[in-house]
Parts: sequence; C-alpha cells; structure tokens
Amino acid sequence: MSFWKKKTEKWVESPMHNNWYQSSSYFLSSFALITSVSEDGVTSIGPYQLSFPFGVIERREWIVISRRGSNTSKNLLRNKKCALNFVEYDKKHIPNIVDLGYPGQAPEEKMEDCTFELENSPTESFVTDPERPKVIKEAFQVFECELNDNPEDFHYAGTEFTEYLLLKINHVHLRERWKKNLDKGNDMEIPNMPISFGFRNANQFWFAKHKKPFWLPTPENKGAKHDAVMYIANRLDEEITFTENACKQLTGIPKVFVKTALKGIIKEAKSQGITTIDKAFIEEVNSKRQ
Ligand SMILES: Cc1cc2nc3c(=O)[nH]c(=O)nc-3n(C[C@H](O)[C@H](O)[C@H](O)COP(=O)(O)O)c2cc1C
Repeated sequence: MSFWKKKTEKWVESPMHNNWYQSSSYFLSSFALITSVSEDGVTSIGPYQLSFPFGVIERREWIVISRRGSNTSKNLLRNKKCALNFVEYDKKHIPNIVDLGYPGQAPEEKMEDCTFELENSPTESFVTDPERPKVIKEAFQVFECELNDNPEDFHYAGTEFTEYLLLKINHVHLRERWKKNLDKGNDMEIPNMPISFGFRNANQFWFAKHKKPFWLPTPENKGAKHDAVMYIANRLDEEITFTENACKQLTGIPKVFVKTALKGIIKEAKSQGITTIDKAFIEEVNSKRQ
C-alpha cells in the first residue's frame, strides 16, 4: 500500500534531536557547492543544503546556515566573498560531493582529489581579486556573493554550533543555454539538479534525482478578470495607459498581487519613456522576468 493511502495511520510524535530536520523528520532540497578562498589563497568547495533565497523581490539575497568554524564560514567572515555553484545531477560526482562535505579537512587537502574543475570567475573585475573564489566548471549556474553582516539587515543569534550568513548576490551567471532556456515559455526545460535528503543514520548521506518536471497552467478563473485589471491599471498613474489587450495578458495574476505587478510594469515603462502599455510591452516584460 502506498504511503498516501495510509491516511488513517496514527500520528506518532518524533523526539527532538540535534539536526532535527534530518534526524527526526524528512526534508529534501537542492544544495549549493560554495567556493571561497582560504587565507593561503586556495579556493575550496563546501556543499550546503541549508542554503536558500532570502531577499527575493527587490533585493537579491541568500542565506546559508553553516556549522561554526567551517572553511566557508571562516573565509566569509574574513574576506566576505564566495560563489554559490549549482551543478546538474551526475552520479560520478556524488561521492566527491560527500567527501567535500566531510568536516575538518583543510582546503588544500579537500581539493587534492576533487573531481570538479575550477575556473576563473566569469566577472572580469573579480579575476584579478585574489579573494574572489574560482567557480566550478561543471556548474550550470553561479551566484557570486558578498557577506552582508549588517545586524540591521539580519540578526539571529543562532547557537554556539551554527552561523547564519546573509549573502548579497552580486552577479547571477548562467551558462548561455540555460539563459536562453528562460525565454522559451512552454518549451522551457528545468535543469536536472541533484536533491539532498541530508545526513542520516550517523553514517549516510542521502541523495535523489528527479524525474522529468512538468508544468500546469495557473488557475485562470481565480485571477482578476481583464476589465477588473484594467480598472485598477488605469487609475495607478495618470501618465500611463494600459490597453485592453495588455490587461488580457495579466489575468493570470492572483488578485492580491495585481497592484504590485502593475506598479512594477509602470516603473519599467517609465524607465523606457513609454506611456501606453500594450500587449507587446507586457510580453517583453514577461520574457525578461522568466
Ligand atoms: C549535500 C551536502 C549538504 C550539506 N549541507 C550542509 C549545510 O547546509 N550546512 C552545514 O553546515 N553543513 C552542510 N554539509 C556539511 C558541510 O559540507 C561540511 O561541514 C563541510 O566541512 C563544509 O565544507 P567547508 O568546511 O569547506 O566549508 C553538507 C554536506 C553535504 C554532502
């Protein structure tokens, strides 16, 4: 019997253990291979599953939860620079990812048998900065970051074991194919990213790969109708007019987000000196946002 059919099975409370999300429950996610530079100028790689988008609308930020004293956290606290490298699933690299995640190895030591290749930063001005880490050649996507240690932006005391590192993303780099893929609409592909279920049973690291991703249209009948969108759109800024066909493009947006989305579109139009927002303009904005 598959698990979902066991709706009537009784609930059992799971005890609190350290690292509870991987010892007392199930959690799956992507992970970043973080490159950073040691005091001796060596770029090394640390895998981090607890690594998530943080500032997501007008700020591009990332949070990393690291054990205190990891190479990554020491390097970041010293020179404030790192790169988050994302690779596609390739079984031959998985054992090396586990090796790179073994605590306590010095950067030179861990990089000795590394199966990933490093290359210079894709940002020209970073190449000559010895504190900017190299990036992973096999990566399909790299975020180059700097530490934001301003306590007004983020402060969480954590514990003596954990460090919460808020990163400002300076550059998002995609391999050309993946950048072009973002503009493909319905034919878009999703990178075959490996999944981590984390460290379990004291001596195992669990991974998975996903099947072919699929998409569903967002519910049309739940969004605002185009005339309702038009009513709001043409009252937000007297210098800007939305055409009916433009508004028909915007009916998929959940009602609660319509105003914010329209304001973003108006801002974009004004920056380009446009006063009439038509269907073509919305399509252009949408393709940039994908
Ligand atoms: C797939 C994977 C994900 C991991 N995620 C984390 C994490 O989110 N936070 C953490 O502190 N350690 C994590 N680890 C363990 C670290 O990789 C380990 O502490 C390692 O020593 C970090 O490398 P560094 O010292 O070079 O930074 C993970 C290990 C693996 C294999």
